[in-house]
Amino acid sequence: MDHFSYKNGVYHAEDVAIPDIAKAVGTPFYCYSSATLEHHYKVFSQAFSDVDAKICFAVKSNDNLAVLATFARLGAGADVVSGGEIRRARKAGIKGENIVFSGVGKTAEEMSYALDEGISQFNVESEPELLLLNDVAISKSKVARIAIRVNPDVDPKTHAKISTGQKESKFGISMVHALPVYRLANSLSGIDVQGVSVHIGSQLTTLEPFSQAFSRLRNFVNDLRSEDIIVTTLDLGGGLGITYGKEQPPLPEFYAEIVKRETKDLGIKLLFEPGRVLVGNAGIMVTKVIYVKQGENRIFVIADAAMNDLIRPTLYDAYHEIISIIPPSGDTPTELVDVVGPVCETGDIFAEQRLMKIPKTDDLIAFRSAGAYGAVMAGTYNSRLLIPEVMVRGDKFSIVRERQTYEELLGRDKLPEWL
Ligand code: LLP
Repeated sequence: MDHFSYKNGVYHAEDVAIPDIAKAVGTPFYCYSSATLEHHYKVFSQAFSDVDAKICFAVKSNDNLAVLATFARLGAGADVVSGGEIRRARKAGIKGENIVFSGVGKTAEEMSYALDEGISQFNVESEPELLLLNDVAISKSKVARIAIRVNPDVDPKTHAKISTGQKESKFGISMVHALPVYRLANSLSGIDVQGVSVHIGSQLTTLEPFSQAFSRLRNFVNDLRSEDIIVTTLDLGGGLGITYGKEQPPLPEFYAEIVKRETKDLGIKLLFEPGRVLVGNAGIMVTKVIYVKQGENRIFVIADAAMNDLIRPTLYDAYHEIISIIPPSGDTPTELVDVVGPVCETGDIFAEQRLMKIPKTDDLIAFRSAGAYGAVMAGTYNSRLLIPEVMVRGDKFSIVRERQTYEELLGRDKLPEWL
């Protein structure tokens, strides 16, 4: 459910007509609906209202401060993967005690900063990381609370580039190898073993892989406890999918049923790291048609947004529904078109052979479900400016990230004095 819809033939975010935003900020831009963000958070959190659970929004999916602050006000914590994300979460008002720190490559500097900020849990992914964290903590006379991220070797049945819980993946430690690492952790004075964590992949559209992973995890927690290794938190990661096109992912309440079934006997605090399911369908990217080009055997709709603004279609062959902000009149021909951007790469394609009413130059179109892994993955390839982000609430909207300027774009480059 989202709050984007047509009203009197014009696409709206809540009560704001998209063309009004385009007039104010130019195109392309991202637009988020705060009512949708709040709705998704409430549905997810209510599914766990009867158990001890903390929802730590995965900042990597959308790191806009206004998005983070929206969730923070609803009581969310944050799942972060870098010093930069810790800074964002803190700035959005999320306390260190509500932040979990994931990622395979934490540096000593990031660990030190995270310890200063009182991060609630480091999800440790390897033995060398554990040893470094111990050293850093001891050097600061602190103790780092940790979980070890285990890799349950489960096929999440999603795109290969976003599968993380199989043997071949760089993430986590297999359950067999994790046991000795827990024993080691328990012997280190800078480390306080607190929990177990897992994250098997993203955009999962069935419950079976979760169910498999969580049941393996339950057994693993029992193994640890039988060795008197105390675990009080179980971080189940993120991964619940959304509808981009025809997918019918399970609702959070059914996901919650699986979780509760597998964890009810453990008497353990649950942590979740959802990203996409909270923000994915709360954002769209709006772009203007520059040209409609008749190729030899294809029609190209050339938009002013490109792969540098929304990379998912070219990186993962991802489908994003494309809608016209004001639908073309009834007699407009419907054809198979390629919707592309201006970047000089054949891969700069948003949609190949998509059936749509052919738009005209200056028409606005939008890519739906662009709230997760959209703006955060943008870059400036072809020296294109990062595009603005707007947040709507009711009949108001605010720019929550400004369009980059050419001064900012060029300002970081320096000519060597010897040139
Ligand atoms: N926790 C960890 C440790 C993760 O690695 C991720 C996502 C999440 C939580 C959040 O997962 P979610 O609930 O959003 O599925 N750029 C890709 C997705 C990459 C996901 C990376 N990890 C895409 O656009 O599909």
